[in-house]
Amino acid sequence: MLNRKYVARHTNDDIFDFNNFDTLHLDEWDEKSIGRIDAKSWKDRYKYEAALIAEVLNNNIEIDSILELGSGPGLLSQEVLAANDKLVYHMVDKEYAKKYFDENNFKGEMFVKDLSAGFDTSGLLSSYDLIITNDFLEHVLNPSAIAQGIYNLTHENSKWMVSNPNWRMGHQYVYRGLFDHDNLVYFLHTHGFTLESMWGSPLTTQYAPKLQSEQGLPDNLIQSWNHYLLCGKRELMSDEDKTKLHDASKAAK
Ligand SMILES: C[S@@+](CC[C@H](N)C(=O)[O-])C[C@H]1O[C@@H](n2cnc3c(N)ncnc32)[C@H](O)[C@@H]1O
Repeated sequence: MLNRKYVARHTNDDIFDFNNFDTLHLDEWDEKSIGRIDAKSWKDRYKYEAALIAEVLNNNIEIDSILELGSGPGLLSQEVLAANDKLVYHMVDKEYAKKYFDENNFKGEMFVKDLSAGFDTSGLLSSYDLIITNDFLEHVLNPSAIAQGIYNLTHENSKWMVSNPNWRMGHQYVYRGLFDHDNLVYFLHTHGFTLESMWGSPLTTQYAPKLQSEQGLPDNLIQSWNHYLLCGKRELMSDEDKTKLHDASKAAK
């Protein structure tokens, strides 16, 4: 008889029951949960990520507006704005993230919204040039609703920067397999985005061999703590083209 109902990948797989899903709790970033946000390691991480964003801004000179979902209190935004204070930078997170943001007189604008199961875009611009989700998408209950919202808040030249934690470091997942590299790229594709560039993190995880669902992951990123995926927008296929493709594949059988 099997004594497990699933194959564990990491010891942490056993500790995340749905009542731990942080997206369902309002206390994120309150005094008890905020931790040492001013520690050097956190600052270094945001500086590194801001350098990646700076590279994206340099290569895409038309980026004037940024929306960051699940931004936390806004530390990455302050690094990005320090180098480019002309940007419009909007963020969405929870109540206590905004409290920290306001108390520290951070630049930009933060909106409080519950993104766990849907994406109410009221109050936001009609489109942004760059959208950032930094270790956020894997937390919410309805990533498709978020991705559809992002599609509708972007124009043809917009970019979406997704930071995807490496499962090897033992992260909380609502849908574990969705964030395996190949599945995430497929998910992004079905939501109208195409992977254009990818970066790793200076932080590393333990080693575990590539899964069948990570064949597209570059070997040098197997132990990277995060995978940073820059996506461009693609045109969704028309119903007519879909029918043609379907008919052609049927005929080829
Ligand atoms: C892992 S943290 C990442 C924070 C930040 N982007 C960073 O990289 O440090 C996930 C973020 O998503 C936010 N978040 C999670 N569920 C949310 C929800 N239902 N509505 C709004 N924000 C949410 C959390 O408050 C938190 O700031």
